[in-house]
Amino acid sequence: MTSKKLTLQDFSHSKNQQHKLSMLTCYDYTFAQILNQSDINILLVGDSGAMTQQGYPNTTHATIEMMCTMTQAVAAGAPDKFIVADMPFLTHKQGIEHATQCAAQLIRSGAHALKIEGLAGHEHIIKHLIESGLPVMGHLGLTPQSVHSQGYQVQGQEEHQAQLILDQALILQSIGCFSLVLECVPNTLAQDITQTLHIPTIGIGAGSEVDGQVLVLQDMLGMTTDFKPKFVRHFLEGFSLIHTACNTFHQAIQTHDYPSTQESYFTTEQTGTT
Ligand code: KIV
Repeated sequence: MTSKKLTLQDFSHSKNQQHKLSMLTCYDYTFAQILNQSDINILLVGDSGAMTQQGYPNTTHATIEMMCTMTQAVAAGAPDKFIVADMPFLTHKQGIEHATQCAAQLIRSGAHALKIEGLAGHEHIIKHLIESGLPVMGHLGLTPQSVHSQGYQVQGQEEHQAQLILDQALILQSIGCFSLVLECVPNTLAQDITQTLHIPTIGIGAGSEVDGQVLVLQDMLGMTTDFKPKFVRHFLEGFSLIHTACNTFHQAIQTHDYPSTQESYFTTEQTGTT
């Protein structure tokens, strides 16, 4: 498969063709422009943006306004990518009308699909959104919006818990989700779910036997130094590269190396031009 813009049909084709999907979070225009020219299949405007962009301690601080601002910026920078936006904390828990309004705001901001964490208590809302023509990606396992009840623990290590996640995955598929994120579950459970479902699974901390992988962009680029769970691989040492560049800039100012004459403007009298 080429890196052309994905359609919903491509999600099921990718599973049939055993093409692994790649997804990265993205929250701003500058990174979106870079990712737009990359091979990455899907951009996720994650509610993790509340943490990476705003410095909040967890994703419960993401608001619909914040999500729409980030989605608009990503859509502007990445017109050639399939964009998924997170339904933020509790927006899918306050009734169908509220969820529909929030979903509409995200879609109008440029998202092509919504990601919704969990299932219990809002299955009817996911179903309603899908029946209204809005594509929904499910999210099971560790669901960060439930940090205060669940913590950041691996989910599904006990037999009964694993069965519950598998059952929920089947329900999400049956009500029409087009794909499913599995976060922090044992690789055997992720493999079981992946083999059972016909929709693609996208893993984060779920081992290699899934249909695709997602990481938070800043984690993957090694820009976050205070967060390194075992599934995060640094594909760049971003923190130290940016840190060094900033110090080099500072040093160049101190030594009068920057700006050079080539980097400065002059009067016509100075340059001798008319
Ligand atoms: O918001 C986010 O970054 C996510 C990923 C962890 C899948 O939902």
